[in-house]
Amino acid sequence: MARFVTVAKADSIQPGQMVKVEIDNLPVAVANVGGTFHAFDDTCTHEDCSLAEGELARTTVTCPCHFAEFDIRTGAVLAPPATVPLKVYPVRVEGNDLQVEV
Ligand code: FES
Repeated sequence: MARFVTVAKADSIQPGQMVKVEIDNLPVAVANVGGTFHAFDDTCTHEDCSLAEGELARTTVTCPCHFAEFDIRTGAVLAPPATVPLKVYPVRVEGNDLQVEV
C-alpha cells in the first residue's frame, strides 16, 4: 500500500537543488524548483547513472552520463538517448518534513 515516507527536512534542500535519498533501498531524487518539490527515480532509464548528480534547470534534469533530459514533473523524456520515462512520486511537506509517497 502506498505511504508517505519522510526523506529530509524541507528547508535543507534549497531552490534549484537536487538531493538523492533512499527509500527502502530505492534511490529517489528530490528537487526543489522555486519552492515546489518533485521526486523521481534517481536512476536514469538509459543506463545506471544518478540523476541527482546531473544538472537541474527549472523542471528539466539532465543526466550527467549521456545527457538525456527528463521533465521531473511528469517523468517524460525530453532528449535522447533515454527513451523510457522516469517514474515520478507524489511529494508533500508536513511541517518541515519532506515526504515522498512510495
Ligand atoms: S545513463 Fe543517463 S543518458 Fe545515459
